[in-house]
Amino acid sequence: MKTMGDLRRTHYCGEVSLAQAGQEMTVCGSIAKSRDKGGIIFADLRDSSGILQMVFDQDTPAEAFAEAQALRSEYVVIARGVLRERAAKTDKISTGDVELYVSELRILSEAETTPFEIRDEINVKDELRLKYRYLDLRRPSMHQPIVMRSKICQVIRNYFCDNHFCEIETPMLMKSTPEGARDYLVPSRVNPGHFYALPQSPQLYKQILMLSGFDRYFQIARCFRDEDLRADRQPEFTQVDEEMSFVTADDVMTLNEGLIKKVWKEILDVDVPTPFRRMKWDDAMDTYGSDKPDTRFGLEIQNVTDVFANTAFVPFANTLAADGTIRAINAKGMADKLTRKTIDKLVDVAKTYGAKGLGYTRWTAEGISSSFEKNLTEEEKQAFHAALNAQEGDVLLVVSDTSRVTACTALGQVRLDIAKRMELLDPKQFNFLWVTDFPLFEYSEEEGRWMAMHHPFTMPTQDSLDKVETDQGACYADAYDIVLNGCELGGGSIRINDPALQARMFKALGFTPEKARESFGFLMDAYKYGAPPHGGMAYGLDRMVMLMLGRDSIRDVIAFPKVQNASEPMSGAPDVVDDKQLKELSIAFVPETKE
Ligand code: AMO
Repeated sequence: MKTMGDLRRTHYCGEVSLAQAGQEMTVCGSIAKSRDKGGIIFADLRDSSGILQMVFDQDTPAEAFAEAQALRSEYVVIARGVLRERAAKTDKISTGDVELYVSELRILSEAETTPFEIRDEINVKDELRLKYRYLDLRRPSMHQPIVMRSKICQVIRNYFCDNHFCEIETPMLMKSTPEGARDYLVPSRVNPGHFYALPQSPQLYKQILMLSGFDRYFQIARCFRDEDLRADRQPEFTQVDEEMSFVTADDVMTLNEGLIKKVWKEILDVDVPTPFRRMKWDDAMDTYGSDKPDTRFGLEIQNVTDVFANTAFVPFANTLAADGTIRAINAKGMADKLTRKTIDKLVDVAKTYGAKGLGYTRWTAEGISSSFEKNLTEEEKQAFHAALNAQEGDVLLVVSDTSRVTACTALGQVRLDIAKRMELLDPKQFNFLWVTDFPLFEYSEEEGRWMAMHHPFTMPTQDSLDKVETDQGACYADAYDIVLNGCELGGGSIRINDPALQARMFKALGFTPEKARESFGFLMDAYKYGAPPHGGMAYGLDRMVMLMLGRDSIRDVIAFPKVQNASEPMSGAPDVVDDKQLKELSIAFVPETKE
């Protein structure tokens, strides 16, 4: 093994091109593969930018040739040579028309055989890849998303800085506040029995910054939520967080359309049309059965309640007697592909999402087969078909339920399932959408009270102001989510900037004045000294990068992600700690006892 000596990198492997042929250059990185063909040795050198072929032959200085003969995969080297046109070109790598004819080679580190090969086409268990994450991240398909993420952040930073925003860091160790997800707690050694919480978002601090006159703030902020993992959810994730004074919801949306346009153009060279479509929450639920509709395909939900107003069919009649609703989808022209067997799977999906069942009508050349039409009158059948514009080749799917949200949500999931089966989802199509006018509150059966749907600082819409304490179910919020291809990319709202209204909100959420003061006194006090109208939003950066790069999980765009049980397999976190450490923190571990 040698040191770099006087050699220093002059070029990155992936950035050289035929235009530089004839130039002397020094490159460094790891050996992706080497092939000794007797008198001639080829070795692919990989660095963070890409791969460059190195070549050694009879005319190579003996010392360099001997070093090349010793090369093995993943050895770390530095090499000097002259770039030249390659005889056998390849389009498998971006530098496939050139190679480095090496005159000097130094092996800087040898490498043992790796537990799996460092190349893209491998079939290795996730557990192994995560344990050796540092090796997995060497593979170009895992490496590039992390590099792209950095570039995306740079474009985002530039956009905010060009638009008068100030980047400000807010505390990682903060006070635990009620509402929202479960906190990650950090014990305070010097204040026994007291705990910090890691931020679920910088929400409170960014609002306070508006009161401090910063006017426009942004931060690429790490957030922590002790909630179950999913493909688009990690306990530790990153938000692109922003807040602005003297703005309306329109202003926030317009500024953010500019941000998205710029990021998509600079990173993907995609022109995103603006302004984005806007849809009220009620309409999104009614038409798509989701507050984050995927609008890349149709299969829209229709309200067929009126068709069955006088029906004798007992399940529908009972639903309507209980003030319920009947909703349906026409899967147009899909009768061939949506077989009885597949429809059974769709029934399971509907049931998983709370529906009592999923009625179907399948209309093929052989005729109509239906799970419920035999119970309808001829007029009802005709009216039902007419309402859905049904014809031969169609499949009609129906849910009746006492709850509109349940009926629509179940059909919304059926809709998505059909789209996946029929391959209607094009990852290269980017359908942005603002969902607005969210309910201000949602009722929690578990807590037995109304909870804020977004957070307690969200401004009610003008029409809702007088109903905050009296008719929570009828209140709407001046809030907006940005949705991309069925994924909630981000969300925000205009905030309450009147301490009296904020106090009313806390009351409506079931806080006593004492509890509100204990939890949010500092915010309420701050409002007393002049509070500009303000609002903002936050994106999930991980989700943004995932969708831009067409990946299926945010795990692929986070360097060291957590897995299902919130652990980090490479380092082994979380881990037990010494009794001494616990004692210093005045903490005793009490194992859970089974009742
Ligand atoms: P919200 O809770 O909607 O709003 O979060 C904003 C965005 O953050 C992303 N996100 C997550 N990404 C990965 N893993 C998670 N566990 C996770 N949780 C949320 C989503 C989401 O849309 N303070 C407010 C924003 C505001 O009002 O300005 C907030 O945090 O993409």
